[in-house]
Amino acid sequence: MRKKLIVGNWKMNGSLQANAALLEQLRNGYDPARAELAVCASAPYLAQLQSLLAGSGIDWGAQDVSAHEPGAYTGEVSAEMLRDFACRYVIVGHSERRQYHGESDDVVAAKAQRALSAGITPIVCVGETWRDREAGRTEFVVKRQLSAVIHTVGHCTSEIVVAYEPVWAIGTGQTATPEQAQAVHAVLRAQLRAATAHADRNRILYGGSMNPANAAALLAQPDVDGGLIGSASLDAGQFLSIVAACPWVAQ
Ligand code: 13P
Repeated sequence: MRKKLIVGNWKMNGSLQANAALLEQLRNGYDPARAELAVCASAPYLAQLQSLLAGSGIDWGAQDVSAHEPGAYTGEVSAEMLRDFACRYVIVGHSERRQYHGESDDVVAAKAQRALSAGITPIVCVGETWRDREAGRTEFVVKRQLSAVIHTVGHCTSEIVVAYEPVWAIGTGQTATPEQAQAVHAVLRAQLRAATAHADRNRILYGGSMNPANAAALLAQPDVDGGLIGSASLDAGQFLSIVAACPWVAQ
């Protein structure tokens, strides 16, 4: 079993003051034997993450990256800039970016590629809407989204993290059951295996209303390698309880 990876996605939340308090609690309460831990913040706070988390064993990352190389793209943040702040991860293709910013599968794939070329691990989000699920299109949708990334990043496929985030479970309090999550994760694992001989290295995270009450059952699934946590990551107690829910893995 792979050691679990728990990632907080703060989304557009935080302030210098609130972040400092939260990070202090995470530093004090984090048990690295249990799981790997990371937080992804808005770009203006990356310097703060770098200064407050360096040496803590907790990694940090961004929530988006430009699909372009540095140049005339006002308002964008390049992968090289994220590297300047020692980001280990960047989330790409979150459903909120696909939905509100019209990001296509190809744009998401280009972002994943830009991250990898700067030495940053992309956390590639895939997930179906409720309508897709009702229509029996879950597998088709998540495979299409992941396949665009695999096609673009090629031999680097084993270096990506995938996050399965059913859109209907994000911020709704409605979670996929452990069986529903495992079924989709198994599909994604098979797709990764077909693309790379090293798919055992790929972590596939579950995201969507994960909380201390449902984390243990989700994280016990064989292909659920961790969690991408939204609202519960803003509360140190809840976030650390999710880490504590990770099964022990013999090192
Ligand atoms: P919630 O945990 O708030 O449902 O958000 C999940 C998510 O979108 C993480 O990226």
